[in-house]
Amino acid sequence: MTKETAQVREVGLRDGLQMVRTILSTEQKLEWCARMVDAGCTQIEVTSFVPPKIVPQFADAVEVATGALKIDGLHAAALVPNLKGAQRAFDVGLRKIHYVLSASNEHNLKNVRRTTVESAEDFARIVAARDESGDAGVRSTVLGAGVATAFGCTIQGRVDERFVLGLVETLLKAGADEITIADTVGYANPGQVRALMRRVLALTGDVPVACHFHDTRGLGLANVIAALDAGVRSFDASLGGLGGCPFAPNATGNINTEDTVFLLESEGLDTGIDIGALLAIRETIAGWLPGEPFTGAIARAGLPKTFARAETEALA
Ligand code: COA
Ligand code: ZN
Repeated sequence: MTKETAQVREVGLRDGLQMVRTILSTEQKLEWCARMVDAGCTQIEVTSFVPPKIVPQFADAVEVATGALKIDGLHAAALVPNLKGAQRAFDVGLRKIHYVLSASNEHNLKNVRRTTVESAEDFARIVAARDESGDAGVRSTVLGAGVATAFGCTIQGRVDERFVLGLVETLLKAGADEITIADTVGYANPGQVRALMRRVLALTGDVPVACHFHDTRGLGLANVIAALDAGVRSFDASLGGLGGCPFAPNATGNINTEDTVFLLESEGLDTGIDIGALLAIRETIAGWLPGEPFTGAIARAGLPKTFARAETEALA
């Protein structure tokens, strides 16, 4: 019997840390990465290449990325908001970049100080910089493009689905190797997710698609189920549910990694991730980040005695 798999990508070191008050040391960040890999979570957004003036937490982006590249089994990615960020990531030797732009023009202006159209043009420049690089390593970099505020925006309000789909087409045409659809501010509901993700998947063909949900209004995991219905098998999540965008009013955390893995495994999807190990990492990180709002049902209540990992069931 072939196991069906799902991927959980840890974004706590990026989305999570951009909102917390305590600046973690580079060693702490790398310990978090290494322990996630040991727990079976190998896809990690390890940092963000933004100016340290804007997000001081990422002043050590180069050191974190360099250290992350030395961790066996880790597929390290970084967020970049512009060409300059991508160049910094190329220089460090990262082979996976997550570019982000917002479907809400208002949010894009606040977040990256340019229009959505200008950000889409910047993505095309990043693709060109990669393709024209004299370095074969740089040319092999996977360029993912993320569409933030795809389900609505705290500043602009409604975001037109046709605009999101048009943006996905533009990014694909520009050469995106992967598309992420993000509910940055927790506005999405399952019906909306099912409808939009079906349409996105109809456009993307062989290009992988991921969803990035925030649990701001309690629908994060319901939205995962809706995205699964539509055919999505890759999800961003944050250990302890940390996260949020500093440039979106009232933003709160991502869907919680532990709970997301629990949900996917319960649905029979093998994530390769050990929830017990995640809980132990969470405890360490909670000790490093006093006063931060950690969320999560499994951390509170524990796994049910009846829980069996999808992998175990498939072997039985
Ligand atoms: N990394 C480091 N430095 C950068 C940079 C990057 N990615 N992008 C620009 N800079 C530097 C420039 O070199 C310039 O430096 P200088 O003043 O020494 O010459 C300075 O920052 C201003 O550059 P400019 O291109 O005018 O940027 P900006 O001020 O218009 O800011 C962004 C644009 C995209 C850099 C900024 O809005 C940003 O970082 N936004 C991301 C916010 C974020 O992290 N949001 C949450 C995640 S979605
Ligand atoms: Zn986010």
